Amino acid sequence: MLHEQIATALNEQIKLEAQSSHTYLAMAVWAETNGFDGTATFLYAQAEEERMHMLKLMQFVNERGGLANVPALEAPVETYDGVEAIFRSILAHETSVTASINSVVDQCLSIKDYTTYNFMQWYVAEQIEEESMARMLLDKLALAGGDRGALYLFDRDIVGLGKESAN
Ligand code: FEO
Repeated sequence: MLHEQIATALNEQIKLEAQSSHTYLAMAVWAETNGFDGTATFLYAQAEEERMHMLKLMQFVNERGGLANVPALEAPVETYDGVEAIFRSILAHETSVTASINSVVDQCLSIKDYTTYNFMQWYVAEQIEEESMARMLLDKLALAGGDRGALYLFDRDIVGLGKESAN
């Protein structure tokens, strides 16, 4: 049976993953309607991945005798100053998600819930990937330096960078 404190922490994480999916979706719509089709494809895939992160948590909570809450979400930001602004925002967001996951892990250790601790290791590893992906894309954009041709190539090449680890 899930400890109440852990159930609460996991439900907060569920909301954060759902909000992440929502945010990526809004970014994808912006990209698609501003001529960045490759970036939109990448971001739609990220939105799906975040939904999977949410579902995985929900099922774990329910299987452990808790009750997963289907969260109310805030409206995401819909306008962006450009692709670089999107990826800066993604890096800041994913850094905050990592902090939240670390907090869940800390709480698991403090009450000796090793089952949830083990389950959360998947999320710990996933966050390393997500942060490093955002940093790598920001590095590429810094190299492009706002050059239109380089941005065109960035948008073309980003399609192949979607992760295959979505499970
Ligand atoms: Fe599931 Fe990007 O955090």
